Amino acid sequence: MHYKIADGIYWVGVVDWDIRNFHGFTYTTSRGTTYNAYLIVDEKPTLIDTVPQQFYDEMLANIKEIIKPEEIAYLIANHGELDHSGSVVNILKAAPKAKLVCSTHCQGTLKRYFGSRLGRDSAVATQDYQFDPQVVKTGQSIKIGKRTLKFIEAPMLHWPDSMFTYLPAVALAMAGAPAEALASSEPPAKHGSAQAGDETDAILFPNDAFGQHIASSARFADQIDETVLMDEAAKYFANILAPFGSLIVKKIEEVQKMNIPINMIAPSHGLIWRSDSGVPPQAGRTHQRINPGKIIQSYLDWSKGETNGGVVIVYETMWGGTAKLARALADGITAEGVKVNIYQVPGTDRSDIIKEILLNRGLLVGSSTHNNDMLPNLAGLLYDLSGLRIKGKIGAAFGCFGWAGGAIEAIEEELKETTVEVVNALPGVKFSPAPEEIAKTVEFGKDFARRVKAKNGTSSQK
Ligand code: FEO
Repeated sequence: MHYKIADGIYWVGVVDWDIRNFHGFTYTTSRGTTYNAYLIVDEKPTLIDTVPQQFYDEMLANIKEIIKPEEIAYLIANHGELDHSGSVVNILKAAPKAKLVCSTHCQGTLKRYFGSRLGRDSAVATQDYQFDPQVVKTGQSIKIGKRTLKFIEAPMLHWPDSMFTYLPAVALAMAGAPAEALASSEPPAKHGSAQAGDETDAILFPNDAFGQHIASSARFADQIDETVLMDEAAKYFANILAPFGSLIVKKIEEVQKMNIPINMIAPSHGLIWRSDSGVPPQAGRTHQRINPGKIIQSYLDWSKGETNGGVVIVYETMWGGTAKLARALADGITAEGVKVNIYQVPGTDRSDIIKEILLNRGLLVGSSTHNNDMLPNLAGLLYDLSGLRIKGKIGAAFGCFGWAGGAIEAIEEELKETTVEVVNALPGVKFSPAPEEIAKTVEFGKDFARRVKAKNGTSSQK
């Protein structure tokens, strides 16, 4: 079912209620996700992005509720990853007159996935499509009728081929007639021309940027609980976009310098961010609107290493000794008035732990020694974390050993690789901590908390 998000602009994507792992098994999507595609009905109907190929029929049905697919004049491919480009060829075949619009890099991505001779992915049914796209660069635009679409290349948000599409606000016709209610699932009485009183909002279509993996019947961010929304937005940033933090800051600053109004951010996953500007009250809205500026500021904060100032303790244990140390550390940290949470691996979801590490300042990592090294599940977490290069953390290692150590040194090495500022470790404990070692561990926790507070005071980290 389609969903009207503004006058003449429709969500025609798909909700994936079932997906629980994304990017293979690198990211858990416990709340599912959506693949957002948007149809702009103007003199030259334009589709922005598509959906995975297995959902093509559902997207096509959504489009057919509004226009005949063959009327599509432009297909904007903001990104070549298959969750957005999987149905590009299908759409181009259903709309033979449609012009594909994409970045230079995206053209290359699509040819690799779908072009003749170069197609390698056996899951992709069509590998022989001959692309003839209109390649666009930052600052270029296309006029689709009364509206004009502008393009902003955004490499590494999420891939080198990524691009934002911006739709400036425009008064489409003479005022006087009431605008159609938002969120209507009714098709427009007539398409191809603006309705009296229509006004298009200023909308940024940034593809992966500002998204969240949430399956929902709601389409707008203000229609779900804000805590859930921001938690999933942070998880998405931590696990997908964190390595590109410096590029994100530059891109946001570049867009801010353009001084373009943004009343709505319509990402390719999850809920749409909108402000109150120019938008009439909507039936069914249960939460206060969240200005798009909130997610933009959150991206700046997360990219720069701003945190909530708390501590995350992550550990893996064989016989419980390292678990006792973790709890003693938490007691010391709590005594200093610093928030702390403990997560055991493999019992806690790795993607969720990485999100918590993003949001907190301190990171204490513990393991029993096993084969002169840390335990393997913890090693997997730290290996993943090292590639994400999350900024602004202070950390230390701890753990128990039997007859020879090794885990603490291995953890410290990995933390340094992860750009964590590592302080001296808690000395390793033989087998299981005695009461006096527990007391020393509590003191270590207090000292670590004071360091965290000091680092919080000198934030932001670059
Ligand atoms: Fe980079 Fe949602 O794909």
